[in-house]
Amino acid sequence: MKTLLADKVVVITGGGGGIGRATALALAEQGARIALCGGHNIEKLKKTVSLVKNAGADVFDLPGDLTDNSFISSCIQQIHQRFNAIDVLINNAGIAINKSFEATSAEELDHIYKINVKAPFILCQQVLPYLRRSKCPAIVNIASVVAHKGYPNQAAYAASKHAILGFSKSLANEVYLEGIRVHTLCPGGVYTEMVKLARPDLSPEGMIMPEEIARTILFLLEQRGNAVIDEINIRRMGKPPYDG
Ligand SMILES: NC(=O)c1ccc[n+]([C@@H]2O[C@H](COP(=O)([O-])OP(=O)(O)OC[C@H]3O[C@@H](n4cnc5c(N)ncnc54)[C@H](OP(=O)(O)O)[C@@H]3O)[C@@H](O)[C@H]2O)c1
Repeated sequence: MKTLLADKVVVITGGGGGIGRATALALAEQGARIALCGGHNIEKLKKTVSLVKNAGADVFDLPGDLTDNSFISSCIQQIHQRFNAIDVLINNAGIAINKSFEATSAEELDHIYKINVKAPFILCQQVLPYLRRSKCPAIVNIASVVAHKGYPNQAAYAASKHAILGFSKSLANEVYLEGIRVHTLCPGGVYTEMVKLARPDLSPEGMIMPEEIARTILFLLEQRGNAVIDEINIRRMGKPPYDG
């Protein structure tokens, strides 16, 4: 049976491990074509490429630093050349800083914002022209439970995740009537490399597995009706979605 995602082009940032790799694999199993965008650890990216290829999907990787705007533009250009389409963007790449509010430097704050907020923001802007030509256009931004809460020693991380949630809400409203779905996931502790840094106090037992996040993303991409849409301030269908 042909799935909704068969042959669709999915761009995933930070696909070298954790949630990004699990998501790439889950979507590859649905027949999607995958572009893995960004990452410094070439070995880990190549590992994901090999796993995704084994699942039978067309995949390529674009290693590089997402804090560099020209790298982002060159990724979009290369994806255009290879697939001539983008149907889904998954903004997954991110970093955490485990430092007290007072100990966090301005440079650290800038750095975390560049990866966790600015890169996804720019990527969303650059994929929109492609999404407008897609039959199942969607963006999934990976925020965190700290987009709602504030744990000690996570001020910079929490600020960045509140920010990605914030712009995602506006974007979701702006493009809803064009049929483009914008979702934001806010997971708690997921068993990946990052959680060891972000939440050294947590033990692995009871954590979410990356595959569970991947399945949630798949669910969101497959259910395109209104049932999974929340926080979109539509007053009446057909009217501009702004709520004042
Ligand atoms: N794990 C959790 O408990 C948890 C909970 C809630 C939300 N999240 C979010 O989930 C997302 C994925 O995290 P994860 O847990 O799967 O951690 P992860 O395994 O550390 O993955 C993060 C990915 O981001 C990439 N990345 C980091 N900085 C980058 C940069 N400047 N340019 C390009 N790529 C960069 C990393 O690649 P390189 O290392 O190769 O550069 C890596 O592939 C993040 O946005 C994170 O905030 C995680």
